[in-house]
Amino acid sequence: MSLNLHTIICSTRPGRIGPALARWFNDFAVQHGKFQASLVDLVDFELPIYDEPNHPALQKYVKEHTKRWSESVAAADAYAFVSPEYNYGPPPSFVNALNFVYKEWNYKPYGFVSYGGVSGGLRAAQLEKQLVTTLKMMPMAEGVAVPMVTQLLDQDKKFMPNDLIKTAATTMLHELHRWAEALKAMRG
Ligand SMILES: Cc1cc2nc3c(=O)[nH]c(=O)nc-3n(C[C@H](O)[C@H](O)[C@H](O)COP(=O)(O)O)c2cc1C
Repeated sequence: MSLNLHTIICSTRPGRIGPALARWFNDFAVQHGKFQASLVDLVDFELPIYDEPNHPALQKYVKEHTKRWSESVAAADAYAFVSPEYNYGPPPSFVNALNFVYKEWNYKPYGFVSYGGVSGGLRAAQLEKQLVTTLKMMPMAEGVAVPMVTQLLDQDKKFMPNDLIKTAATTMLHELHRWAEALKAMRG
């Protein structure tokens, strides 16, 4: 059975660019062919600032939004986080979504599709790595960094990647798949 890859749109800002990149990456993953790939949008879960009374590791969720989010996160074997950089750090919507569940993230690999200005979101991606490893996830060294992202959008706001970005995406997907297979044993 093929492994599930969730490409998660981490920005929830009105007018955000995130979905353009995420749609491209998800389509790319479908064509790559190794994963069962699907697109997940944080906006659809309407997560408020963390509002569960119990530690997420207990999985005693009382809020419907958490139960829905838990189900979604649990269904994936690997993740691609499509994340911008806000003030050299992760967007709060992403940090908040990470905190809501715990075991559902454990022993799974992830990669970043990061974007922004000149840094390509890399400063945020480095900080995010520290957070995410606490959830027992495995970061890929290989990532897709998109500097000056607005210059790669066409007039319909469709993302038009260059060859460097496409090569990076292929490499990251290959690594993600290797790790997702290897970590399957730990996920029991
Ligand atoms: C609050 C805020 C902080 C930002 N800080 C950075 C930054 O530190 N580095 C950067 O490259 N771009 C920064 N930007 C610009 C974003 O890269 C750009 O707005 C991008 O479109 C954000 O992604 P989104 O549209 O999917 O939300 C910032 C944007 C916002 C709204």
